[in-house]
Amino acid sequence: MRVAVASDHAGYPLKLLLAEHLRAAGHDVTDLGTHGAEPVDYPDFGAAAGRAVAAGKVDVGVCSCGTGIGIAIAANKIAGVRAAVVHDVTSARLAREHNDANVVCMGARIVGAQVATDAVDAFLAASFAGGRHTPRIEKIARLERSPATEASEE
Ligand code: RB5
Repeated sequence: MRVAVASDHAGYPLKLLLAEHLRAAGHDVTDLGTHGAEPVDYPDFGAAAGRAVAAGKVDVGVCSCGTGIGIAIAANKIAGVRAAVVHDVTSARLAREHNDANVVCMGARIVGAQVATDAVDAFLAASFAGGRHTPRIEKIARLERSPATEASEE
């Protein structure tokens, strides 16, 4: 798969680990930064990963920051992005199967290396289950177009 990796300074060591892991598994990895331990702002990197996914330049994004939360919030501001914070194999798999997530985010201060690599493998191996989940994903897409409208009214 074509994978964009991105992180802030706190997620940088985890990003390096995941990028190496993904390349070793044969994935086409694009590193969108950050490229060192200097403090940076996670929204810049979440947005970069989200834009790469939304533009179809990559299939999925793999992001990390301290908790995974901030970079996921930022990525989710890009239309078409469904970024999920995951902490383990199960949440990673279900993020794909139920939520059709196209960006996976993890916290370098939260998960260990083995959990993180197992989770990203589970995320990439899983696929959207469709069925009852499809109208829910479509509802999220409608929220992007009209965030002030209650989905239940549509
Ligand atoms: C950086 O200190 C930290 O706030 C950031 O990496 C992230 O955890 C925010 O959600």
